[in-house]
Amino acid sequence: MRIGILTGGGDCPGLNAVIRAVVRKGIGQHGDEIVGFRDGWRGVLESDTVPMDLRAVRGILPRGGTVLGTSRTNPYAMEGGAELALENLRSLGIDALVPIGGEDTLGVAAKLAEAGVRVVGVPKTIDNDLDGTDYTFGFDTAVGVAMEAIDRLHTTGDSHHRTLVVEVMGRHAGWIALHAGMASGATVILIPEKPFDVDAVVAHCQHRFDSGYSPILVVSEGAQPKDGGLSLSTGEKDAFGHVRLGGIGAALASLIEDRTGREARAVVLGHVQRGGTPSPFDRVLATRFGLAAVDAVHDGQSGVMVALRGTDIVRVPLLAATAQLKLVPAERYSEAEVFFG
Ligand code: F6P
Repeated sequence: MRIGILTGGGDCPGLNAVIRAVVRKGIGQHGDEIVGFRDGWRGVLESDTVPMDLRAVRGILPRGGTVLGTSRTNPYAMEGGAELALENLRSLGIDALVPIGGEDTLGVAAKLAEAGVRVVGVPKTIDNDLDGTDYTFGFDTAVGVAMEAIDRLHTTGDSHHRTLVVEVMGRHAGWIALHAGMASGATVILIPEKPFDVDAVVAHCQHRFDSGYSPILVVSEGAQPKDGGLSLSTGEKDAFGHVRLGGIGAALASLIEDRTGREARAVVLGHVQRGGTPSPFDRVLATRFGLAAVDAVHDGQSGVMVALRGTDIVRVPLLAATAQLKLVPAERYSEAEVFFG
């Protein structure tokens, strides 16, 4: 078979492990030909391809990023984009497509599957907010990076008796903040799912100072106070209509400094969370997803996504997996609240 593969959306540690697994299993066990599309859906729209043979994937397992490149190009946001994608896939003789991406990339995949393309999706996002899978690869690495940063910030914050506000990624879902904050003993964790009470946050910071230590707040970039008005965005939007976020950490630090009378600083972890080498968990999960995607293609499946349920890799309908985001449930946040203050 001639199998197309692409990586779309924000990059994520583990993408290369998926690509390697698809190539190794497809060529090694089925005699497939693997065609890489450069920069996500842009490569499909421009027929920009690269042959993915065994040599192309040698040594890429531990490498962060994606050797195929990525973009947030959305064929459905362009006049005639979907038709062009379908025509190019046909003329390139692609029998099946394995797109690796989050809700946006897989949303396009679901529509192409409905239009008749054989598609098996692979879930990816450091945000871990894709429904239908217990975990996405990249998340474990991002949490590890954030946890290490927060561990380091504890000692410098305590030495200077100042508040440190750590802004982490998470536009709609607070999984990174929740896990990194729990793992590193944050004073307060703020997530988009639960608008926060400014007075309560200030009280937690004060309590932490009173106990002889300095507060560390972990805040998702998409978190909002109950009465609104703190979150900042540049107003810029990508092809999927997402505004670029950033600024809640700095705004919160300034507010806490005013209210506690003690210095507060913000640290934005940003793309550090997405770069670099994947954790062992992410390498194994990504590899298993890649192997399972090739199996699904050869089983004649389409319109499905491989997913992790417990310790098993399963197949779920793409439409169901992309219908809504997987948000942090209230009871998971309550577990973290026990340690606030
Ligand atoms: O979707 C993954 C993610 O890392 C989000 O957490 C974040 O809001 C967004 O991508 C940032 O995207 P970019 O770096 O491409 O602007």
